[in-house]
Amino acid sequence: MRTVLYPGSFDPVTVGHVDIIARAAAAFDRVVVGVLHNPHKPTSAFSVEDRLSMLRDATAGFANVTIAAYAGLLVDIAHSAGVDGVVRGLRMASDFDVEMQMARLNRQTRGVETVFFAASPEVAHISSKWVRDIGRLNGSLRGLVPEAVRQRIEQHLAGTDIRRGIHG
Ligand code: PNS
Repeated sequence: MRTVLYPGSFDPVTVGHVDIIARAAAAFDRVVVGVLHNPHKPTSAFSVEDRLSMLRDATAGFANVTIAAYAGLLVDIAHSAGVDGVVRGLRMASDFDVEMQMARLNRQTRGVETVFFAASPEVAHISSKWVRDIGRLNGSLRGLVPEAVRQRIEQHLAGTDIRRGIHG
């Protein structure tokens, strides 16, 4: 039985995340998607409850995928969840530098291994950060976030851009 943890902020979930979840679900017996949050840093666009609920809707078709929220160090979470390893997606060179550091630290500190999936080229340019930016400026998120949750994300983000007051 091979169970992996796919951790992230998922603020909000994108089609890039679902690409990694789908491929991890095909490669491993079970995938736990972990929404990691720091309760002392409430700077996210979506609440943890919203992020969990959207991930559940976006991954409803995968029988071996579960969604959960965690706080704390990734290595401690991986140990207490009893997973065999961690999954992360790599989109581009800038991801590689950060991810290699995290993977090596996680292995050094508690022996937690990381398995990387190369992002599919058609979604490798998509990030939650750009999704938030486009959504806050009332742009369409079609093709960027899972269709099952697109309207919900668009409605939540629309009109929340702080620059509206400046640019009219
Ligand atoms: O979706 P993100 O924001 O790229 O996810 C990053 C995340 C949450 C996986 C990373 O920041 C993380 O592991 N946070 C938990 C705290 C921790 O363990 N930090 C040390 C990493 S070596």
